[in-house]
Amino acid sequence: MITSDIATAAAALRRGEVVAIPTETVYGLAANIGDEAAVRKVFTIKNRPLHNPLIVHISGSEALSDVTVNVPETAKMLAQQFWPGPLTLLLQKRPDVPDIITAGKPTVAVRVPDHPLTLQLLAALEFPLAAPSANPFGRISPTDADQVEQYFGDAVPVVLDGGRCTRGIESTIVGFDSEKPVIYRLGSIPREEIEALLGHSVPVRNQAAAAPDAPGMLPKHYAPRTPLVLTDDVPTTIQRLGHKRMGALLFRHPLTNVRITHQVVLSASGDLAEAAFRLYAALHELDNAGLDCIVAERLPDVGLGQTINDKLERASTQEP
Ligand code: TXA
Ligand code: MG
Repeated sequence: MITSDIATAAAALRRGEVVAIPTETVYGLAANIGDEAAVRKVFTIKNRPLHNPLIVHISGSEALSDVTVNVPETAKMLAQQFWPGPLTLLLQKRPDVPDIITAGKPTVAVRVPDHPLTLQLLAALEFPLAAPSANPFGRISPTDADQVEQYFGDAVPVVLDGGRCTRGIESTIVGFDSEKPVIYRLGSIPREEIEALLGHSVPVRNQAAAAPDAPGMLPKHYAPRTPLVLTDDVPTTIQRLGHKRMGALLFRHPLTNVRITHQVVLSASGDLAEAAFRLYAALHELDNAGLDCIVAERLPDVGLGQTINDKLERASTQEP
């Protein structure tokens, strides 16, 4: 059921059901962090491996002490600046945070989502919500309620409809290595904004494939089913590959004089925030166009461009 009624969503969560919730980044598949059976359902519905931990969504910074201990000063600064918003902090967990949430790790991922409906829902509930993105494992994250329903149908009994996600890309994950901040996943808050606040550079450590700290960094992730090739030169790549039904994902300019079945431009004005907002919907659209191959244009590698390139790299296949 798709609804925008918070009381319906809250009642379902209290009964131990899984509810899809809107956030400013992507939709999440939420359960009460204290209800192990409900949290297990989230893993089952997503077909997600149990070793991949979940983000805990809280109603505000004041709820941080419900799930974490020993919060570094830098983390407090970041929370103060970016919450509610698309920043996830990896912090030392309180002992009573269940192992199924953190995959047995000593840290818990926490954020305050910036969406009016979900903030009201969290304020009404007696517990925080564990919520991974509402996509089957390995698929593109959904940015509207209909997409969630298409993915899961009746397996998710309630989808709280908060409209289209305004950011369109997952939160940026920041953790601490001996109190020093590290970006573990590039996301909706550009690296430069975090560095500007802290006044120094912050390393990005998102490439560990074997034993990932944040499996959002697994090399293959967020993938359309259609093979996708990322390139600086779309027309040449299209000509070289020469498939029958080719699609193109472009930053600013549509292709002319190139034989193409379907193309999507992310932002005609070159606005990276607009490109991020449209990225996943564009990938869905191209994936559903019956193409042999999608050729995607690499964006300028700054700000959200860096995040978008990272997502596209993970969505790309080795060249066919
Ligand atoms: O924007 C977002 O963050 C969305 C919305 C729904 O809030 N959520 C989201 O969740 O992207 P998910 O599960 O798709 O990605 C969470 C990432 C995963 O890569 C997971 O491995 C990592 O966070 N993570 C969660 N808890 C962790 C922990 N304790 N230590 C290391 N990584 C953790
Ligand atoms: Mg995800």
